Amino acid sequence: MRTDTPKTILLKDYQPPKYKVADVHLDIRIFAGKTLVTATTRFTKNHDGAEPLVLNGERLKLVSVAINGAATTNYTVDDKTLTIPHPGNEFTTVIETEICPEENTALEGLYMSGGNYCTQCEAEGFRTITYFPDRPDVMTIFTTRVEGDKKTCPVLLSNGNLIEDGDCGDGRHYAIWHDPFPKPCYLFALVAGDLVHIRDSFTTMSGRIVDLRIYVRAGDENQCDWAMESLKRSMEWDEKTYGREYQLDRFNIVAVSDFNMGAMENTSLNIFNTALVLARPETATDMDFERVEGVIAHEYFHNWTGNRVTCRDWFQLSLKEGLTVFRDQEFTADMNSRGVKRIDDVVRLRNMQFPEDAGPMAHPIRPDNYIEINNFYTLTVYEKGAEVIRMQHTLLGDDKYRKATDLYFDRYDGMAVTCDDFLQCMQDSSGVDLSQFKLWYSQAGTPEVTAEGHYDAAAKTYHLTLSQTVPPTPGQPDKKPMHIPVMVGLVGPNGHDLDVTPPPSVIPAKAGIHTNQTMDSGLRRNDEKGVSYLLELKDSKQTFTFKNVAVKPVPSILRGFSAPVKLHTNLSDDDYRFLMVHDSDGFNRWESGQILALRMMGRMIDTVESGGAAVTDPAFIDSYGLMLDQANASNADRALMARALSLPDLAIIAQQRKIVDPDTIFTVRRRVLHDLAARYRDQIQAIYDSCNTPTTYSNDAESAGRRALKNVCLRLLMNGPNPPVSLARQQYESANNMTDRVAALSVLAETDGADRDAVFADFFKRFEQYPLVIDKWFSLQASAPIPSTLDRIATLKDHPAFSLLNPNRVRSLFAAFAMNNPVCFHAKDGRGYDILTNAIIALNTKNPQIAARLLGPLREWRRYTPDRQAKMKAALERILAQENLSPDVFEIVSKTLK
Ligand code: ALA
Ligand code: ZN
Repeated sequence: MRTDTPKTILLKDYQPPKYKVADVHLDIRIFAGKTLVTATTRFTKNHDGAEPLVLNGERLKLVSVAINGAATTNYTVDDKTLTIPHPGNEFTTVIETEICPEENTALEGLYMSGGNYCTQCEAEGFRTITYFPDRPDVMTIFTTRVEGDKKTCPVLLSNGNLIEDGDCGDGRHYAIWHDPFPKPCYLFALVAGDLVHIRDSFTTMSGRIVDLRIYVRAGDENQCDWAMESLKRSMEWDEKTYGREYQLDRFNIVAVSDFNMGAMENTSLNIFNTALVLARPETATDMDFERVEGVIAHEYFHNWTGNRVTCRDWFQLSLKEGLTVFRDQEFTADMNSRGVKRIDDVVRLRNMQFPEDAGPMAHPIRPDNYIEINNFYTLTVYEKGAEVIRMQHTLLGDDKYRKATDLYFDRYDGMAVTCDDFLQCMQDSSGVDLSQFKLWYSQAGTPEVTAEGHYDAAAKTYHLTLSQTVPPTPGQPDKKPMHIPVMVGLVGPNGHDLDVTPPPSVIPAKAGIHTNQTMDSGLRRNDEKGVSYLLELKDSKQTFTFKNVAVKPVPSILRGFSAPVKLHTNLSDDDYRFLMVHDSDGFNRWESGQILALRMMGRMIDTVESGGAAVTDPAFIDSYGLMLDQANASNADRALMARALSLPDLAIIAQQRKIVDPDTIFTVRRRVLHDLAARYRDQIQAIYDSCNTPTTYSNDAESAGRRALKNVCLRLLMNGPNPPVSLARQQYESANNMTDRVAALSVLAETDGADRDAVFADFFKRFEQYPLVIDKWFSLQASAPIPSTLDRIATLKDHPAFSLLNPNRVRSLFAAFAMNNPVCFHAKDGRGYDILTNAIIALNTKNPQIAARLLGPLREWRRYTPDRQAKMKAALERILAQENLSPDVFEIVSKTLK
């Protein structure tokens, strides 16, 4: 048990820095077992008084301090800061420190991965390299000299442009890098090691040539082409879409295998988790390819949204992350299928962010307090943050949005700013009033929107009443109504969108105060030639009246998922069956099928919980047949159909329940899959066969869509009567790409028998030299919802290939188990909780960030059946009772138990 409570940092306590930094020269000399850092920093006073200079520094061995050239002992130092009493208005410090990257298992600051040195400074890792004002609003110009052994560290990299390199004698050499653009220290990066690289170039829109390089360990260089192509596409897209050009001569990417996050946008020296760089068809799935493309883009886009314009303080994290996620989502949509990308993003949001927003750690996209900022690199800040930018884009429209981002970059280039500053640009540039919209930044919780439609045949009007509530969240019992863009279409009986002219105006509902809105600016035509209207819900209840509606329509509400809300409607199952086939909005076509499945499974779970036997609704089975027909059509969008034919995930079904019993949810979902496979066995097999055309591998979207649909069919068949194990085995053996191989492996993982053992043994042997593929080997076994998984995990955690020090490996075993396998994780005897708890305790001191991340699945303990609740609570209490609990773990456990 911690005897102290770590300090809470509050947004309202923000104060500008007392000292600014004009420039800093770092001299970093790397020796085996110790690294010497000399920081020469020119400070200028940024306040009227005579305050001391307080520098952050942790886990450092202080060697010496000098001010203006003279050694001094006139300072105090503790385990977090170094304080020098008012040193003057302008002065230079020279601080020498010693660190040991070789012993740094937290993977924060300067550390070692696979024999190479690398850094991760966001959010507050720089303070473990040297004493410095480690806050994003202190931006400065960095010059970095890196020195190391020529044999072990032939490559020496830092940010900016290489201005000098040379020999030091003694088998050592150095390189000097200079970044002329001011940046905060969280964007500092250094890499020293034995790496190889591939090289390409990009000519910017003003004709400058940028030298592009991707550095990896020797042997991996043939897995980098896709990342390089993705980088060039990202650079081009950002020029075309946002008018943003790259400013330096070099752009380096380095892939390391030990990395807490996905990747890091350090100026001109992006450091990546290998999982998000390396990709070849034999070793990476189609999903891996898309993730590599998306994250390469994400980090590149940070060059403007994050680096050139950065955050004033860490509460503003969503300023860069929400915006950059929105940018990378749109990039991926442009490179691939827009409709499919939207579905995948919404599924992710619902699976992971909605529970966060409904749980004990719920926070607004701009949090107002934290103990450990690393705990706020969340789905809320990133994914909901992206939805909030997306809504601004929707409210402004393409042109005004682009003008507003131009203004943002003009106004704030080289500055550290806030979310309010961004919103102000959106308003100033477009004239759109976003004052109420601002609440999205400060109110947590997923709004619930209810829609009720009513057609008045005599008056030929259609009334749509929208109401909203925002649920209470920790520290926020009462919420104000939000400004919610609701994209709506009216679908006529012939399946076509009604083009209601003239555009309707908002008619105030009977109660409440309403703003009158005209719809002129809101009329939109969507991609698929449908007609949609943008309704702006601002009050707790509003009625929108469409005029000149000749026939009774079925409303298609929240098209494209125009706001991150939970929608309830009074539409019937028949209405959804109709929309599932006819909606011009691809997202809502998919959504309608999902709603039908969710409604039916909800009824089945009710039946089971009241002691009955669950029966799959024949009407649902029929409508599933309609989708199979669509999927079988020669012109089908197969990627989209793969999503349409998939039932909602267990986590999404669980969200519909007041009390969650994972066993019942799993059994019911299985029952439905079984009945669908039994009824449509031949059709499913036919689709499988038609997608299984044995051509040479191609990674284009059409081929990836075929593979996706084929593998959905394989999974369906494997859930039916007489599962075709030999088909799966054959697909495994004959696959010429990882997507097909892993899909076969994942269905075989759920069987118990000789085939399963054989393919897993083969897979390990075949890919032993590919750590990222071995991660899949671990995670597929951990994710299998069969009873033997619990025993298997005990063996796997002692497997020679397992290591608690490698975050990817930890995630592949423990996070995959706790997040993808609710049936085993929530085993009634509590064994699943023990497995996770032991891992968290073991990681707490080794790598606090990863330990804290693993707590996610325990956060929702109050939602489970009472027996499980008690065991989950006991697990959390066992963690809280540990000595040396890191602030990271302490914050989440204590808030979760509150
Ligand atoms: N700033 C890093 C990213 O999200 C963690 O890209
Ligand atoms: Zn980011």
